[in-house]
Amino acid sequence: MRTQVAIVGGGPAGLMLGRLLERRGIESVILEARDREYVQQRVRAGVLEQATMDLMDEVGLGGRMHREGLVHEGVELRFDGEGHRIALSDLTGGRAITIYGQQEVVKDLIEARLESGPPLHFDVGDVVVDPETGVVTYTHAGERQRLEADLIAGCDGFHGVCRPTIQDVLTVYERVYPFGWMGILAECAPSSEELIYAHHERGFALASMRSHEVTRMYLQCAPDAEPWPDEQIWDELDTRFGMGVNRGPIFEKGVTPMRSFVVEPMQHGRLYLAGDAAHIVPPTGAKGLNTAMADVALLASSIGDEAALQAYTRRALERVWRVQHFSWWMTSMLHRMSDDPFETRIQRSQLRYTVTSTAQATALAENYVGLPFITA
Ligand code: APR
Ligand code: PHB
Repeated sequence: MRTQVAIVGGGPAGLMLGRLLERRGIESVILEARDREYVQQRVRAGVLEQATMDLMDEVGLGGRMHREGLVHEGVELRFDGEGHRIALSDLTGGRAITIYGQQEVVKDLIEARLESGPPLHFDVGDVVVDPETGVVTYTHAGERQRLEADLIAGCDGFHGVCRPTIQDVLTVYERVYPFGWMGILAECAPSSEELIYAHHERGFALASMRSHEVTRMYLQCAPDAEPWPDEQIWDELDTRFGMGVNRGPIFEKGVTPMRSFVVEPMQHGRLYLAGDAAHIVPPTGAKGLNTAMADVALLASSIGDEAALQAYTRRALERVWRVQHFSWWMTSMLHRMSDDPFETRIQRSQLRYTVTSTAQATALAENYVGLPFITA
């Protein structure tokens, strides 16, 4: 079999790349290791930057996002028992974020792909990529398959096979944080109309949501913690937010470790990495999904132009490192990083400055709503 672009991984990066290429008349085949239900149910982030919303519109899939998504024009920073609003839209000339679960984006992209035709294979196994020749081999429906492509897009996430294939030419930049996030989804109305990022001596807490009926909350915890009993989670949330939060049945609970990770370069031979395959951010800035989208917007616009493809790593990394800094900064400002009281005082000063200086609040706001995507 032949195609122009072999896309390994059917997460948000691979699916959006496929959609963008389809609209440019470029053939692709998407190979996804898991089944459709698994990919659609996987609970991940839920904040879309302005540019991600614009990209969904551009590819004709913004309908449900606009109907069901919640547009937010501000976020709250809470510390020393007081909340302070950062007016995201006022500070950025009207840009905003939308709360719309990553799995909803994935559902919309899968449905469109299956409707309009280009191949998307689920349940593929033993994917092997050859960056020199562009050949991808894999097992599907019990048979070994061979796909020849001009170019391979490695969109197979942090645990995929594409990055390890070229590890000899990669430099890794990494920071592992000594804590994780315990996340819950619960059937109850959010306790606040906007997201709350809370700094507390016992650790960070975040109040988010998926809808007017579903709350999403997180607590800083040990990186290898087992999820706590529901009651303990609610009590700890009350303590860290300094208010009685709305409670309801918890239907999803999990612990995510936190790391910052980047490889350079993001390409070798015919293989181009995008999204979590190339970089990871701690979730504090809500940048993972959006950065994956920025990569594929750039890659899709570079395909077919040799000079642009050569420049892919340089252009992508410029934005990737901005996002890395922002995510590291938010993480360092808001979490209990150590037992050192000097650190806590530095954090409080940074928080106070952020909520009182228009310059610093604007810096937070423009990074949070997201810098524009770059295209070739
Ligand atoms: N072959 C085929 N598919 C694979 C393989 C493989 N060897 N290994 C992994 N995959 C699939 C995974 O099952 C997953 O569906 O690749 C997809 C990668 O998707 P994500 O991990 O969601 O990564 P990406 O598309 O880059 O999106 C980044 O996901 O992890 C979150 O916070 C992150 O929001 C960000 C987003
Ligand atoms: C979420 O709603 O899942 C969420 C929101 C903001 C973040 C991270 C995750 O910074």
